[in-house]
Amino acid sequence: MNEEKIQSLKVPAHIAIIMDGNGRWAKKRGMPRTFGHSQGAKVVEQILEDADHIGVKYLTVYAFSTENWSRPQTEVKALMNLLRRYMKTSLAKCAKNNVRVRVIGDKSMLDQDLQDSIADLERDTAANTGIGFQIAINYGGRDEIVRAVRRAAEKGLLNDPGRIDESLLNDCLDTAGIPDPDLLIRTCGEQRISNFLLWQLAYSEMYFTDKSWPEFDREELLKAIDAFNHRERRYGGLIH
Ligand code: IPE
Ligand code: IPE
Ligand code: MG
Repeated sequence: MNEEKIQSLKVPAHIAIIMDGNGRWAKKRGMPRTFGHSQGAKVVEQILEDADHIGVKYLTVYAFSTENWSRPQTEVKALMNLLRRYMKTSLAKCAKNNVRVRVIGDKSMLDQDLQDSIADLERDTAANTGIGFQIAINYGGRDEIVRAVRRAAEKGLLNDPGRIDESLLNDCLDTAGIPDPDLLIRTCGEQRISNFLLWQLAYSEMYFTDKSWPEFDREELLKAIDAFNHRERRYGGLIH
């Protein structure tokens, strides 16, 4: 896409991505699925940088779902090790690029050392003012809503049913304070949500591509943003 065209695009403030197809991409090349995950991890770093340069304010990526524990132990372990490595090595880069990291999902089920690294990274990037980068780990949309309700109950916010409203629940979600995604991208052909951001995607535009995640790049991101520019968001209203 040429520079002039890129400059003319309206950039979505928040992009969410279901990074799918690592395993299929690797298998097609006669490699183990875990090779696809390592490749996928590199792509995340690049896309974060690209999204930031393009002007995206929030990027949320689905790294591990509440359902992904049902995969073979070896694959789960490889994915956790990749996440471990990311949490440890990305601080310098986040500091340099002014990235603010938040992990969404139920962290309490992760190994303690991983929980500690996540807490370190979140704390050390909390004051950064650049792009907000949310990584969904042990994340499920339904689970998040259940935990939000639990959190609200613990704070005594559910005692008066008449005062329960969307903003109350919104503030108890893992994504509290972050605007809903404008655009959801899912790679590698599948056209489903797979329990991602069920609450937050209420009015997001959906973009599906056959490209697998390891093949996804800046040009593909721009294509998705271009498609977003051709959508008409009505929010249930009428366009006059
Ligand atoms: C996405 O790739 C990464 C995770 C779900 C962790 P997959 O591992 O789902 O790859 P495919 O969809 O099986 O090809
Ligand atoms: C969704 O991909 C989860 C992540 C990308 C982390 P899956 O590959 O797990 O989803 P399904 O099984 O195709 O729905
Ligand atoms: Mg998949």
